Amino acid sequence: MGDPVAEYSSRLQQQEQDIHSLTAEIESLKNPQSLGLSSHLDGLREENAKLKYRLNILKRSLQEERSQCSKTMMNINQRLQEIFGEAIREAWPDLENPPLAVTPNQQAKFGDYQCNSAMAMAQMMKSKGLKVNPREIAEKIQQNIPDNELIEKTEIAGPGFINVHLKRSFVSKLLTNLLLNGVQPPPLERKKKVVVDFSSPNIAKEMHVGHLRSTIIGDSMCRLFEFLGYDVLRLNHVGDWGTQFGMLIAHLQDKFPNYLTVSPPIGDLQAFYKESKKRFDEEEDFKKRAYQCVVKLQSKDPAFIKGWNLICDVSRKEFQKVYNCLDIQIIERGESFYQEKMIAVVKEFEAKGLVEMDEGRKIVFAPGQQIPLTVVKSDGGYTYDTSDLAALRQRLFDEKADIIIYVTDSGQATHFQVVFAAAQMIGWYDPKVTRVEHAGFGVVLGEDKKKFKTRSGDTVRLMDLLDEGLKRSMDKLKEKDRDKVLSTEELTKAQHSVAFGCIKYADLSHNRINDYVFSFDKMLDDRGNTAAYLLYAFTRIRSIARLANIDEVALRKAAETTDVLLQHDKEWKLGKCLMRFPEILQKILDDLLLHTLCDYLYELATTFTEFYDSCYCIEKDRQTGEVVKVNMWRMLLCDATAAIMAKGFDILGINPVSRM
Ligand code: ARG
Repeated sequence: MGDPVAEYSSRLQQQEQDIHSLTAEIESLKNPQSLGLSSHLDGLREENAKLKYRLNILKRSLQEERSQCSKTMMNINQRLQEIFGEAIREAWPDLENPPLAVTPNQQAKFGDYQCNSAMAMAQMMKSKGLKVNPREIAEKIQQNIPDNELIEKTEIAGPGFINVHLKRSFVSKLLTNLLLNGVQPPPLERKKKVVVDFSSPNIAKEMHVGHLRSTIIGDSMCRLFEFLGYDVLRLNHVGDWGTQFGMLIAHLQDKFPNYLTVSPPIGDLQAFYKESKKRFDEEEDFKKRAYQCVVKLQSKDPAFIKGWNLICDVSRKEFQKVYNCLDIQIIERGESFYQEKMIAVVKEFEAKGLVEMDEGRKIVFAPGQQIPLTVVKSDGGYTYDTSDLAALRQRLFDEKADIIIYVTDSGQATHFQVVFAAAQMIGWYDPKVTRVEHAGFGVVLGEDKKKFKTRSGDTVRLMDLLDEGLKRSMDKLKEKDRDKVLSTEELTKAQHSVAFGCIKYADLSHNRINDYVFSFDKMLDDRGNTAAYLLYAFTRIRSIARLANIDEVALRKAAETTDVLLQHDKEWKLGKCLMRFPEILQKILDDLLLHTLCDYLYELATTFTEFYDSCYCIEKDRQTGEVVKVNMWRMLLCDATAAIMAKGFDILGINPVSRM
């Protein structure tokens, strides 16, 4: 896995086994010399000694590097797993894939982290017919913990938990490192390419709340990958191709006959769509013409391509308004992009004998999947399935993506499952090498727990929703008399930050798998786990230094000269909480569940409040109110908290303001 120590260790182990079996073999032979085995053995022994030597050097230099603190943030959990992994390997060299479980401890009295491997290992051994007490296992692990930079002491508790107490001085060093270098991502072994397919509304149809969820969740995933140093391609797989364009263009020709020279004023594409659909359903001639238009469009007739483009542009402008509000960067690469590629994809499946005929349709069955993909309809047209096959192929072979993520509602889970299975069947990718994943999400519900609709029962237009958010957030700010304190400019900034921040955070803070109830009242509440609460908390933390007249230069100087003391319980709790940021991000990288980050930020804000309530940062004269003492190391803790929160907001796509 690219870890040199682990690599050397396993090579060493392998060689030791070889030596062992060779020695046994030699002993069982009468004249080993003549077989040349002995000299082989000597060679192995020599190489082995060299390996051992290299391994020790590597271990030492790694440790040195760690204790000097590299610029990036250390993932303490991962480091502890490495340490315990090494201890277990040392104690049981032959045990394959020992279970590794390290978790942060909620209750401080049990230490800071906990290793729970002993119980799982006892289970493992039991299944192999070995009865061992987990406590004994824990003891043996404990005895084999290698020299390291961060563990103060360990204790065994209960049936075999190993409680880990961290060195406060080490965490303090990590915090200094964070203050001096900023919040830096852990180093990447190799710059990987990630494609995130998100938002993806349909042309000529309304972008609805489902697309809003996809937009918010997808954008945040991209931001996480970008922060971690991945090469991210943000793709908008818009529905811009299909038979509906036939009727739209036919209607365009009738309504705006000179559309080729004068740009048609289609204000309301929704209404335009409805009109043409009505005609399509009711007028036989119109229907016929609509079909001819599809053929013309597919044959790339310029007049028809122009009409298609005009219609797409109207939608595009609408989508862009939403993206501007939410500060979303995305590249449009709709279904039409894959037209030619679909032809080749169908041929490829046919050439491999993977296509079956079914009442005039061409279908593909993938292993383990009940439902087939329809790759060609009976009228010869392609489908959503075909375009997704073509898109996946393009992303794997042309984009050379290492990770491909699709963010849509869970209703499309089966569709993606079958597409992925078909792609594996034809040999496009190996899931062990390339990560292709559908990140599904639940539906958006209204406060009545029914499908999200306007009072009159229509689908809610996204721009209306965002506008209402703006209005409500302004009401809230005025309710708190913020309009009397802030300048007009500051007020507008705060209004936007709160409105869009709250809409995003409300979505992201819920487990995406579940359905989610959209409620302006809840999301704008400044108590509880909401963006409103966090944004206020953040401005308050930021203002602590400002009110004490400590500027950034002074803080920077302090970070260079002052140790971040972590003696008070609440200082220690805050310090540890801050250093959990990398492990939170790692977890999200694995399961793509962003609510973990929201939960963490909320926990950080409350942990900060506890600290601030019990530890004076600044001491003032009771009578004059004058600052008499600044506890600089605590100011540094405030600063580190603000830095982590700011980075968290950044990943969630929330834009904090300096005053609100
Ligand atoms: N346009 C689709 C919809 O509105 C979503 C497309 C998602 N991406 C994909 N590659 N299928 O449901």
